[in-house]
Amino acid sequence: MPLINSGFSVLSEDFAADPYRYFAALREQSPVHYEPSVDSYFVSRYHDVKRVLTDHEAFSTEMLQARAEPVMRGRVLAQMTGAEHTAKRKVIVRGFTGQVLQDQVRAIHANATELIAPFLTRGRVDLINDFGKPLALYVALDALGLDKKDWQQVAVWYSGVAEFITTIALTPERRRHCLDCADQLEAYLVPIIEERRRRPGDDLISALCTAEYDGVAMSDRDVTALVLNVLIAAAEPADKTLALLFKHLIDHPEQLAQVRQDPSLLAAAIAETLRYTPPVQLIPRQAERDAVLAGTTVPAGTIIFCMIGAANRDPEAFAAPDTFDIHRSDLATARSFTAAAQHLSFGTGLHQCVGAAFARAEIETVAAMLLSLFDQVRYGDGFHYQEVGLYTRGPASLLLDFTPTAGVENGK
Ligand code: HEM
Repeated sequence: MPLINSGFSVLSEDFAADPYRYFAALREQSPVHYEPSVDSYFVSRYHDVKRVLTDHEAFSTEMLQARAEPVMRGRVLAQMTGAEHTAKRKVIVRGFTGQVLQDQVRAIHANATELIAPFLTRGRVDLINDFGKPLALYVALDALGLDKKDWQQVAVWYSGVAEFITTIALTPERRRHCLDCADQLEAYLVPIIEERRRRPGDDLISALCTAEYDGVAMSDRDVTALVLNVLIAAAEPADKTLALLFKHLIDHPEQLAQVRQDPSLLAAAIAETLRYTPPVQLIPRQAERDAVLAGTTVPAGTIIFCMIGAANRDPEAFAAPDTFDIHRSDLATARSFTAAAQHLSFGTGLHQCVGAAFARAEIETVAAMLLSLFDQVRYGDGFHYQEVGLYTRGPASLLLDFTPTAGVENGK
């Protein structure tokens, strides 16, 4: 086990290359790890993370005012509490559940079919860059009622906004770039919001425009912030989860064979992928008063980063936590996409992900479709696997070779 000595930093290149190598040492030797350069604590034990995310009085989301608002243009759901949070969250939940979800599954299937088509005869696809990234944006744009033809432009602006939120320490140049992207994204959205106010449709932006809280409609800025909130929250983890699922199944051929034989195991494979390699690795909170965590006093006002990847590998919570096992009994699949989830990959408490059921439907639909199209799926010749990101994390690319299933290669 590597040692967490005084020079150790979770912001080092070594840690970024493979954080999983350090998680056990962090939990055992420095469970509330202080990073002086950013004056923040990194919490790695499952029970401490759960406490920080569920004790809303002691640990708030105040820091989002500085970490998100400058690019989101207003307050996101995670900054709200009480009746306002319940009311606005409900509007978004309605856009991702029930009949709407059924319609969206059909749209997801159609989008995935269109995006994978050019790669089928080649028998080779980069599951992140050729397919997963555009698909994640297509799906989020569809859900919001935005035009997919704009996806490449939106992708550039969206990356700048996401970079602002998911970078622990930004340089002044990158900060300017991110703010510029936010300006352009806002300029793109405002005329659309104005149009939906005049002629509401049955999309989520229209629902946000017509919703009232305390008898008052939301301003353009309020709506913009929630649109960006959903866009980033829905798109950022989706391609990563899909690619990580394929990586783990390829690395565990016996489990891949079982999923192929019984596709109802896919949900368990997705839940285990989320536990084993959560695409959202860090969730920030702010200590509202001095708090003691694992014997360390965290002073009031300080930022705490919950380390989801480390918490999900805590032996206090999961047996043999470093083993990928779609059959594990301590991760009830049915609960894994609900508020009762055992893993913490969707967060927990008041701000737990509103899109968990949608994410399951999206990844399950797409993975089932790809598995039926790809025979003998394997890493591409000479492919070198690399993960990137400290805050959100996933493969930089995932080059796959496959034999198209019978009929596909003839365009049937
Ligand atoms: C595998 C996919 C996904 C993962 C891993 C994920 C992860 C998370 C996490 C960790 C949080 C908690 C943040 C916090 O406590 O501060 C969260 C919140 C949220 N997620 Fe997701 N998410 C996923 C998909 C989605 C989708 C598809 C949507 C689309 C609606 C979505 C919308 C949201 C929203 C709006 C919140 C804020 C909830 C609130 O503050 O009340 N997410 N997500």
